[in-house]
Amino acid sequence: MLHNKTIIVGVTGGIAAYKACDVVSKLRKQGASVHVIMTEAACKFVAPLTFQTLSNHFVISDMFAEPKTWEIEHISLAKKADLMLIVPATANVIGKIASGIADDMLTTTVMASRAPVMIAPAMNTGMYRNPIVQENIQKLKTLGYPFIEPVCGMLACGDEGDGKLADVDTIVESVEAFLAEQKQNPHSQMKETAFPKITDQETLSSTSNTVPQDLKGKKILVTAGPTREPIDPVRYITNRSSGKMGYAVAAQAAKRGAEVTLISGPTVLDTPAGIRSIVRVETAAQMYQAVMDAFPDHDAVIQSAAVADYKPKQYSDSKLKKSDSDLYIELERTQDIAYQLGKMKGNKILVGFAAETDKVTEHAVQKIRKKNFDFIAANDVTKAGAGFGIDTNIITIIDAQGNMHAYPQLLKTEAADIILDEVAALFCRKEQKP
Ligand code: PMT
Repeated sequence: MLHNKTIIVGVTGGIAAYKACDVVSKLRKQGASVHVIMTEAACKFVAPLTFQTLSNHFVISDMFAEPKTWEIEHISLAKKADLMLIVPATANVIGKIASGIADDMLTTTVMASRAPVMIAPAMNTGMYRNPIVQENIQKLKTLGYPFIEPVCGMLACGDEGDGKLADVDTIVESVEAFLAEQKQNPHSQMKETAFPKITDQETLSSTSNTVPQDLKGKKILVTAGPTREPIDPVRYITNRSSGKMGYAVAAQAAKRGAEVTLISGPTVLDTPAGIRSIVRVETAAQMYQAVMDAFPDHDAVIQSAAVADYKPKQYSDSKLKKSDSDLYIELERTQDIAYQLGKMKGNKILVGFAAETDKVTEHAVQKIRKKNFDFIAANDVTKAGAGFGIDTNIITIIDAQGNMHAYPQLLKTEAADIILDEVAALFCRKEQKP
């Protein structure tokens, strides 16, 4: 219960502003005295009169409106508030608070307030993942501002992903839990006591993680690199894959919080930072076995390896001697790892790559169907800036429903993040429909 508690609810201009009405109503039902401050943009989404009626107090929005009696009131309010709750908090208001900007009633009150300021962000996924927004959030967290994390779901803009305002009940429960904790330990999260003394930028950035942790708790298996199919002790059949694409996927997935297992063919690349384990293999058969062993313990598999489709039928234990006649090496099929996983898929997410030289879309679509991929990243390896060995790629994402999105030339790390955005959205959809 929230009897004798004074809460200032700051409402900013996002479509989720209408949910703040419910928050105000529920806080009042819990016994809190609620005062609402709205930004100018918030007033475009919900009329101040709605909040006035729900809170039973005048709503403050315009800093320069007459009469100005509230000017004193809001300072005294800021002094006596037990908590400020910003719901929904847009990227804009988070940026302003993080930068010490106080240019409207809400941000000046935040600045003046000695009460803890709780922040419930809500915004489009792209904005939420923007490194600047993440840096601002991390800065505020480091300074002791409690956050009510947004959730993953269908956003008003039609995108699916994280950035959706937390559930109203979760917000109200978080407020109650926070204030109960404060009562027991009044200095636990008060800004003045909790704020670390940041003496230089390095200290702040070292505690900052600017990458959203949207794959936290997910186990992702990534295959990368070429395979080598030996002919004799000195010769083998391989392809041009360097492993860069798969290593970028593994590195970015680990940065986003996933537990990553990388199964790698022979490469000269360093093990990506933060991954859980790496299994180094040489042949398609070894990659097949490593993937099959790891598969049950993973939620998703991203298959960027260029696995040999054929291997020499006979391996010669000794070096083949040259003669004056031509040499014919009979090849036999390797096992198709992706095809096999497709048959065992269950509730897991399977992502493939398609390295094509012609009819890119047509061939990629056939592979999605045959191998039961959720989606495929097709790359035309004949294009400059795409494919083997280089640091960039040009991908088209095609999903099992036939939706298609072609991207321009990107760094492989950026292409990896696009693939991982799709994977995160698929996890999100699966969690909504278990
Ligand atoms: O490693 P880089 O130098 O960075 O180059 C990146 C890349 C070009 C290798 C990468 O972007 C890419 O396209 N990888 C897939 C290469 C490939 O083998 O494509 P494919 O169209 O032949 O195979 C389709 C899918 O089936 C792939 O996900 C592949 O991993 C999988 N496969 C193929 C054959 C096989 N025997 N088993 C498989 O699992």
